[in-house]
Amino acid sequence: MNNEKLQVAVVGVGSFGRNHARVYKELASEGAVLAAIVDTDISRARAVAAEFGGQAFGSVSDMLACFPAVKAVSVAVPTVTHLPTARELMERGVDVLIEKPLAVSVAEADTLISLARQHGRVAQVGHLERFNPAVRATWALLTRPMFFEVHRLSVFSPRSLDVDVVLDLMVHDLDIVLKMANSPVRELRAVGLPVLTGKVDIASVRVEFESGCVANFTASRISTERVRKLRFFQPAQYVSLDYSRRDVFSLSVRPTEGGMPEIAPYKPEVSTEEPLRAELSSFLKAVRQRKTPEVTLEDGRAALALAIEIQQQMAEHHARARLDEVAVAMPCVKG
Ligand SMILES: NC(=O)c1ccc[n+]([C@@H]2O[C@H](COP(=O)([O-])OP(=O)(O)OC[C@H]3O[C@@H](n4cnc5c(N)ncnc54)[C@H](O)[C@@H]3O)[C@@H](O)[C@H]2O)c1
Repeated sequence: MNNEKLQVAVVGVGSFGRNHARVYKELASEGAVLAAIVDTDISRARAVAAEFGGQAFGSVSDMLACFPAVKAVSVAVPTVTHLPTARELMERGVDVLIEKPLAVSVAEADTLISLARQHGRVAQVGHLERFNPAVRATWALLTRPMFFEVHRLSVFSPRSLDVDVVLDLMVHDLDIVLKMANSPVRELRAVGLPVLTGKVDIASVRVEFESGCVANFTASRISTERVRKLRFFQPAQYVSLDYSRRDVFSLSVRPTEGGMPEIAPYKPEVSTEEPLRAELSSFLKAVRQRKTPEVTLEDGRAALALAIEIQQQMAEHHARARLDEVAVAMPCVKG
């Protein structure tokens, strides 16, 4: 691998961006030099810079004035500010890894795609689960998935409240299932309820693809337990993937000579690499080689477009079920 020095930075070092800084520091072994940490909350930028290295700045323009050699940046600001932040960086010739969800609207996602093309930038979207070693071990098992059952449940924490649970959590699974099903969406049904935050906190969605494959998604950010599971059935096989435990197993039905089919269990080997390290390493490789990243802005747009369609279906269900009339007055946590 070409490990020439490459100056990198992180913009937005809240609860998730801080992890990007930690991992870029570790990627010094691959030539990454964490030159700068940017956050409008300068005290936070200073604290993260003190911990992982780099110089702290309160804005992208201040950072680029001091470090014009920064060539690759993680954008981990709140989703509502992905577009202006990534725009400024790309216009100044910087390659970007934009956290998921790519943006808050398809129009914004399209603008990001055009900006990347116009300025010849390598631009990746942070769909981290693509780099989950359990997901990576699953691609080899895929034949023709016909039914997915996906659960992503989190205990409530007051973060990412600028978006609902579909854009916050479910979008990870939408990206993975879109890739695995590999077929256009034919129909979807969705119901979602705001419980604690004034935005939808729990959602149940059924998607049917043109291929006939059906996927059920449940996402909650108000659960009493943390669950991250994706299971699917395909001809003569059941596959179960646990994103958190990072393991996969399958059960296959096999004919035997005696006539009675047997059930054969299988557990593929799963690497122990941290997904974020794999993601940032892959991004830096794409930057060095000027190649299309493993997870493109178009992938981010596809997951976002489905998420937004789901939001529209949820709004229609909300109106049909006259949920406003039965809404219980609850104190809302402000985003
Ligand atoms: N890939 C994942 O698994 C994953 C997990 C969590 C969050 N995220 C994504 O990461 C992003 C950040 O989420 P978070 O939970 O860390 O949010 P957060 O609110 O904890 O942190 C955001 C940080 O950005 C700073 N900021 C805001 N506007 C800024 C600007 N214009 N310039 C510089 N700094 C700015 C804030 O001061 C804050 O420190 C979101 O898009 C979220 O969806 C991804």
